[in-house]
Amino acid sequence: MKITGTTRLAGIIGWPVSHSRSPLLHGFWLDETGIDGAYVPLPVKPEHIERALRALPVLGFRGCNLTVPHKQTALAVVDRVDPLARRIGAINTIVVTPDGSLGGTNTDAFGFRENLREAAPQWKPSSGPAVILGAGGAARAVIVALSDAGTAEIRMINRTRKRAEAVAGDLATPQTRITIHSWEEVSAVQRQAGLLVNTTSLGMVGEPPLILDLSSLPSSAPVVDIVYIPLETELLAAARRHGHPVVDGLGMLLHQGRPGFEGWFGESVQVTERLRTAMLATLAPVR
Ligand code: ATR
Repeated sequence: MKITGTTRLAGIIGWPVSHSRSPLLHGFWLDETGIDGAYVPLPVKPEHIERALRALPVLGFRGCNLTVPHKQTALAVVDRVDPLARRIGAINTIVVTPDGSLGGTNTDAFGFRENLREAAPQWKPSSGPAVILGAGGAARAVIVALSDAGTAEIRMINRTRKRAEAVAGDLATPQTRITIHSWEEVSAVQRQAGLLVNTTSLGMVGEPPLILDLSSLPSSAPVVDIVYIPLETELLAAARRHGHPVVDGLGMLLHQGRPGFEGWFGESVQVTERLRTAMLATLAPVR
């Protein structure tokens, strides 16, 4: 990569930010497209987020991604938030418009949907109720994606019931009902379901594994884990043994980057096998 006087700039703002794989992802696409651009890590403390975002247009940045802990607070700072991001309650992408204003969006729902489309093409919203494990920010993005795709029923399981109730209150629509269940009910909840998605941190390196009895889940139902370190979680290994289509978390991470790249650098990009292989090489667990 060569930085010139006309290099277009974007980056990722987080605190900390050094763990982020986004610079590698966008760096790959910049190399591939030959665009005169750079994508850099920007460590910004929570108390400085507003000043940092307001500085983006001043410094000539085309925009940025946002990661922990800024995704919710940044939503209140930007000039425009698209309706999808407002429903999710967080933004992960900002595009600076030519007038210098900041437009916020959330590309996690897009990333989830595109990954599912690619990795489990046989899945349809009409395949049956979707079981969602977890009620955090990732669950919100997944639920919005499934609801917009036309899923009629979502069955949520979360350790903290209140959190699930808040998500259901925010995201249920006349077309998509959301029911709330406890972990003890997981076997009954899986019956006749068309999809199961883990959005909790269980199974991630350093966290307890997610051990589920999948015997009541129809074998045609894809099992999706949004955890990507390790890529093959215990949940996915169990799903594979039971004959479910399995969808790992790396694809969602890669696909969520596409709209941002297009917004900042003006070219659309794809998730290829070559990209997956390059990113996989960077995902060795840090112990
Ligand atoms: P994210 O924004 O990535 O979704 P989050 O908001 O921290 O992250 O949400 C983490 C999810 O994992 C939550 O649903 C959390 O359950 P609680 O709402 O009860 O906290 C779930 N989770 C994390 N550790 C868990 C554990 N040991 N057992 C069960 N659920 C767990």
